[in-house]
Amino acid sequence: MSIYLDNAATTFPKPEEVYRAADRTLRAVGVAPGRGGHSRSVEAARIVFQAREALAELLGIGESSRIVFTHSATEGLNLAVKGLVRPGDHLVTTSMEHNSLARPLHHAAATGVEVTWVQSDPAGYVTAAQIMSALRPETKLVAMTHCSNVTGAVNPVEEIGPLLRERGVRFLVDGAQSTGSYPIDVDAMQIDLFAAPGHKGLYGPPGTGFLYIAPGIELEPLLHGGTGSGSSELTQPVSLPERYESGTVNTPALAGLLAGVEFVAARGVASIHAFEMALVDRMIKGLAAIPGVTVYTPDDGRPRCAVVSFTITGMDPSHIGFVLDHRYGIAVRVGLHCAPLAHKSIGTFPLGTVRVSPGLFNTEQDIDRFVAAVAELAGTAR
Ligand code: ALA
Repeated sequence: MSIYLDNAATTFPKPEEVYRAADRTLRAVGVAPGRGGHSRSVEAARIVFQAREALAELLGIGESSRIVFTHSATEGLNLAVKGLVRPGDHLVTTSMEHNSLARPLHHAAATGVEVTWVQSDPAGYVTAAQIMSALRPETKLVAMTHCSNVTGAVNPVEEIGPLLRERGVRFLVDGAQSTGSYPIDVDAMQIDLFAAPGHKGLYGPPGTGFLYIAPGIELEPLLHGGTGSGSSELTQPVSLPERYESGTVNTPALAGLLAGVEFVAARGVASIHAFEMALVDRMIKGLAAIPGVTVYTPDDGRPRCAVVSFTITGMDPSHIGFVLDHRYGIAVRVGLHCAPLAHKSIGTFPLGTVRVSPGLFNTEQDIDRFVAAVAELAGTAR
């Protein structure tokens, strides 16, 4: 039996109810929401509305209409950065960003925006004090990840949000690796813009994601087009969510996302986190005992999520991943994980690491088989 330990890329498998909801919606509803007014269209719109409501409830968001569906967290981050920032603005970010944020920020820098990259410590953490000391009078935005997709380090966004709100600086958080598997309360954390995928910790289908936009923030839309509302006007509607949702949304996928969010809510995010941390602790303990293995994920009591990175001395991570897959049937992700700056920060550039990310459908036996496989492999390297 193969073992899937790449849940940080996308969770797999999905809960049965996610497959059923997507299939049922495509077959039995299958039409565009908010277009036409016939009963199937109303049913489709109801599903999309419920998905927004369920997300708002799970994530402590007061106004569900301010959750905009996108095809990925990447699209949400692009909308936030490109919609808000203008030449002459100053932004603060961290050295641990995934390319989904690092690339739009780098692009902004090429168009006359100044970007300060706050250096993390070797485990991938930045502090609130570091972020605050990088601010300038003209800083418009702090944009950063909640949880590193390379080391699993969880940054103190709950400390940073209120400090930025006091200073009038907008706060964009990339929740790609934490949403659904680490407790988040967007309003209480005073986050202005929050992007996440639907297909990771929320157990929805790929191609789903969203951006939450707090009241009082106006973003220039990335897309202009049909929204099913205000059709007599050539200008984009100003009301949310349709201002940012041009084109027919993927209702079957959002039905799957709704089922995933309900699954997560029923299990409870704190309980999911505790379950995953038990697997991660077991894995780190096992890996750390193997001669030649270096683990990059913090094991010092600081907050983290279910992502573990390691290397074996003298072995290319891509070779380790290949052997784990082909000899042991274990799926992991190797290399730079679309986060070259993060690997520079922890000292593993350019080869990267082997990244292992358990999810809710993994067991202690999976972890033990994985650790035994790494022990065998490390033995061959010595
Ligand atoms: N961002 C995802 C990962 O880190 C795809 O694997």
